[in-house]
Amino acid sequence: MTVFYEDFDQLRALLTGPWKETMRETAVIWNVQTLEETDALGKLVESILETGTVISLLGTLGAGKTRFVQAVAAAAGVPEDEVTSPTFVLIQEYKTGNRPIYHFDAYRLKDDDEFLELGPEEYFDGGGLTFIEWADRIERCLPRDYVQITIRLTETDGREFEFRRIRTR
Ligand SMILES: Nc1ncnc2c1ncn2[C@@H]1O[C@H](COP(=O)(O)OP(=O)(O)OP(=O)(O)O)[C@@H](O)[C@H]1O
Ligand SMILES: [Mg+2]
Repeated sequence: MTVFYEDFDQLRALLTGPWKETMRETAVIWNVQTLEETDALGKLVESILETGTVISLLGTLGAGKTRFVQAVAAAAGVPEDEVTSPTFVLIQEYKTGNRPIYHFDAYRLKDDDEFLELGPEEYFDGGGLTFIEWADRIERCLPRDYVQITIRLTETDGREFEFRRIRTR
C-alpha cells in the first residue's frame, strides 16, 4: 500500500478521472486538528470531486461524517444548519448554486432493500455529489466505482481522514 500524506496532487489524482489499477493500492491521509481545518479540507474536496461521484463515509459514531458533509456543502454555499445527520429521514438534498448534494445515512436501515426503495440510482446519476454515512451497511448497493473516506478520531481529539478509491466486481 502506498500512502501519501496531505498531498493535494495525489488526492486529486486518486479522486478523479478514470479508474487505474494502481488506485487499489493507494491511500491519501489528511490530518486535521480543528474544525477550521476540517472546513478547509471540505473546500479542497469540494473543488476536486467530479459531478456524479458517490462518497462512502465510514467511521464510528461521532467520528465526524456529518461534520465533513457540512464542510463540503458550506464550500458550495449551503448554510451549515441545513446539514444534519439524515438518520431518520434517510436522505436529504441540498441545493447549491451549482450541483446538488445528496446526503444519505444508512445507519438505521434494516437491509439493502430498504435502501434500494429510496431509489439511490436516481441520486447517483442525478448530476450532483452523493454522500452516504455508514455506507458499509449497504455496500452491495454502491456503484462499481466510488470514493471511500474513513474518519478516525486521533489521540489529540483531531481527525484523520483516509481517502481511497474503490472499484468492485
Ligand atoms: N474535524 C473535527 N474536529 C473536531 N471535532 C469534530 C470534527 N468533526 C466532527 N467533530 C465533532 O464531533 C461531533 C460528532 O460529529 P458528527 O455528528 O459529524 O459525527 P458522525 O460521524 O456523523 O456521527 P453519526 O455516526 O452519529 O452520524 C460533533 O460535535 C462535531 O463538532
Ligand atoms: Mg452523522
